[in-house]
Amino acid sequence: MQCSWKAVILLALASIAIQYTAIRTLTSKPFQLCPVPSPQNCGLLGGPETESPIEGRAGCDDYPYFSFNASRKTHIMVLATTRSGSSFVGQLLNQHADIFYLFEPLYHVQTTLIPRLSHSRNAADRRVMLGASRDLLRSLYGCDLYFLESYIKPAPANHTTDKLFRRGASRALCSLPVCDAFGPTDTNVEEGDCVKKCASLNMTLAADACREKRHVAIKVVRVPEIGDLRALVEDPRLNIKVIQLVRDPRGILSSRIETFRDTYRLWRIWRATGRRPYNLDLSQLTVVCEDFLGSVSTGLSHPHWLKGKYMLVRYEDLSRNPLLKTMEIYDFLGLPMDKSVEEWIQTNTRGSTELSAKHKYGTVRDSAANAESWRLKLSYDMVEYTQATCHKVLHQLGYKAVKSAEELKNMSLSLVQDKTYVPFS
Ligand SMILES: *[C@@H]1O[C@H](CO)[C@@H](O)[C@H](O)[C@H]1NC(C)=O
Ligand SMILES: *[C@@H]1O[C@H](CO)[C@@H](O)[C@H](O)[C@H]1NC(C)=O
Ligand SMILES: *[C@@H]1O[C@H](CO)[C@@H](O)[C@H](O)[C@H]1NC(C)=O
Ligand SMILES: *[C@@H]1O[C@H](CO)[C@@H](O)[C@H](O)[C@H]1NC(C)=O
Repeated sequence: MQCSWKAVILLALASIAIQYTAIRTLTSKPFQLCPVPSPQNCGLLGGPETESPIEGRAGCDDYPYFSFNASRKTHIMVLATTRSGSSFVGQLLNQHADIFYLFEPLYHVQTTLIPRLSHSRNAADRRVMLGASRDLLRSLYGCDLYFLESYIKPAPANHTTDKLFRRGASRALCSLPVCDAFGPTDTNVEEGDCVKKCASLNMTLAADACREKRHVAIKVVRVPEIGDLRALVEDPRLNIKVIQLVRDPRGILSSRIETFRDTYRLWRIWRATGRRPYNLDLSQLTVVCEDFLGSVSTGLSHPHWLKGKYMLVRYEDLSRNPLLKTMEIYDFLGLPMDKSVEEWIQTNTRGSTELSAKHKYGTVRDSAANAESWRLKLSYDMVEYTQATCHKVLHQLGYKAVKSAEELKNMSLSLVQDKTYVPFS
């Protein structure tokens, strides 16, 4: 019995690895250096037109000036977990005129490689998933969007697809020249409108749009820890800056219970009945806390490989003071913040009007005053349990534990301690 069970697991793992190898072999080389000998392209990584990496490298030698220049592309990564406010941070980057933004492309890696093991803790699964994720990210930072096609189901025909995950969250993919449904003045296209009105996504045009922009930003919620990204961060062809976004795990739990109603059904039963179901999947909570602890500990220990490349942001700080925190983020990135970012913040946070209050992207709901609203939604039992499970990371990030239901519900007591995390350089 045990033996056959193991055999099934082994088979499953082998098939994942084989699928991945097949994908790697069948698709374009992801590691190309400067593709075409032109000033525009030389600072970038491989593009889809590139035939051979050797040619590419020769091209680069013609323009050594551009390959490692202060003015080269910044590869921005928002490293987060689901329901930690990452869509909000993503939008702060997406609104910038010089940034090409992608919303969670690793979704496609996960659904292709590990369809049913969505939060697998199995070490072998995790290695495959991470290896594939790093390769994909490396390609995407180089604007090689064709590489993503191998993970999209059904496979795009003629480099065209309707199935890119959350295409509508990316401004560049909803505007000219990628989508001609809106005029040049329609700068704030709603995600749903984009999906409804734009024709299928032409990946060639999308890749061109990516190359046109000075920087690339990618939101990632499927990489557990910053340590898993070391190979990317140290890659000399990239210029990675990681914004690690964290949030009070009690807030994450509450938000997930509201959002992922099926997956977190037993937690809702706990909340409704006051009794913890015996078969509750506690890893839905413990994994978040362990990953945060590991990741933040690495980041805050200031390893040499993260020097100048790591910034820790607490969602609660961003909610309290969005404009100031956003300026700090742009400061860290070394980019000037532009007017459209500022305007987006004005419309989407506290000063917002009725109209924008039921806004797109699902970000408004979560921003500003709502960062601590979980306190009114979780029962004291659940909070107590979460605090016990996550006490290390709560302490590390400056989130206060409550000792009674009264404290929990008393909103005039803030549970967020003042803490300043300065990026180290
Ligand atoms: C490359 O860097 C040098 C020195 O950092 C700078 O003077 C030059 O303007 C940069 N080149 C471009 C094309 O921006
Ligand atoms: C792809 O393009 C070719 C040539 O334009 C065309 O014949 C074919 O029907 C297209 N395939 C699909 C699935 O659209
Ligand atoms: C996608 O865009 C490219 C570049 O403009 C064009 O050559 C190609 O025909 C387009 N593909 C489709 C399927 O329309
Ligand atoms: C809430 O906390 C404040 C600050 O500690 C305290 O003054 C107040 O009495 C508390 N309110 C209730 C209802 O316990």
